[in-house]
Amino acid sequence: MGLGVPDFREAVEFYRSAWGLQVVDEDSDVVFFGTPANPEAYIVRVRKDPAKRVDLIAFAAESASAVDELAQRLGSAGITLVREPDKLGTPGGGYGFRFFDPDGRLIEVSSDVAPRPWRALEPRESVPQKLSHVVVNSPDVVATKRFYETHLGFRLSDWLEDKMCFMRVRSDHHILAIAQGPHTSLNHVSFEMRGLDEFMRGTGRLIRQGRDPVWGPGRHSAGDNTFSYFTDPVGNVVEYTTELERIDDDEAWEPRTFSAAPEVADQWGTGGPFEPMIPAMHNSPDQGLWTPAPL
Ligand SMILES: [Fe+2]
Repeated sequence: MGLGVPDFREAVEFYRSAWGLQVVDEDSDVVFFGTPANPEAYIVRVRKDPAKRVDLIAFAAESASAVDELAQRLGSAGITLVREPDKLGTPGGGYGFRFFDPDGRLIEVSSDVAPRPWRALEPRESVPQKLSHVVVNSPDVVATKRFYETHLGFRLSDWLEDKMCFMRVRSDHHILAIAQGPHTSLNHVSFEMRGLDEFMRGTGRLIRQGRDPVWGPGRHSAGDNTFSYFTDPVGNVVEYTTELERIDDDEAWEPRTFSAAPEVADQWGTGGPFEPMIPAMHNSPDQGLWTPAPL
C-alpha cells in the first residue's frame, strides 16, 4: 500500500512510533515500512507529496510467468498498462506491472519480491504482524467489484447491505473491500495484530497517547474480525484487527448479506457511536487518480 502525504514527517512518525511499524528503507521523501513478523519487503510506503493521495495498491502473483500472463490478459481486455512487466526498483525488487482500475487507482501486481527475515511476534507484543486488508470507496461499487472479479480473480465473500462488498483471493475472508462512497478515496487500511490481547494493548497504546478511536474496539459480523479505527495525521483511517474469518471451503461458501445495524456491525456493543466513523471513512477525494505515482 502506498500513500502520498503532504504532512510527511508527522505521518512517518505516526506509523513508526504510534502505530508500531518498522522502517525497512528510507530516502529523503519516502519511507518504506514492514513488520518484524512478516516476510513482505514492505507493507506500507509513505511518500512526501503536495497532494494527499493513494500512490498504489500492490498484489502478489505466484510467479513471473503469472505476472506476464495477467498483463497480457488485461492488455487484451483493453486495459492500458501504465508500466509493462519489468524489474521493480522498490525494496525487495521483484517483477511487476501497473495499471489503473476503473476508478483510476494505480494497481501493481508483482512476483519474486525478496522476502525479509522475520520472526513470530511474542505474546503481548502489540505491533502489527501484517497488512490485513485495504478498503476503498468507489462511486460505483458494482462496476468496481465486477472489474476485480473479472480481471483479477477476486471472489465475493459477503455484502454489507448493498453498500460494501468483501472480496477474497485465498482463505482470508477479505483482503480488499469496496464501499459505495461519495467519491473515489481510501476508506481504510487494516493491520493484523497477533491476537486479542495484542489488539487491545495496541488500541490502549493509541488511547494513552490521546488518539481516541474513531470507532471501536469492537467485533464486526462480516469477517467476524475485531476493529479499532483511528485516523492518521493526514486523515486516512487505519485499523487494528485480529481473528479475521477464514474461508477454507471455497466452493461451498455462499456469500451472505449483513445489515449495517449497530448490533450487527458491532457484535460486542463496545465500539461507541458509529456516526463519527462515516465522514472519516468517506475521506477526502483521492487527489492522485489517473496520475501514476512517481515512484
Ligand atoms: Fe476493516
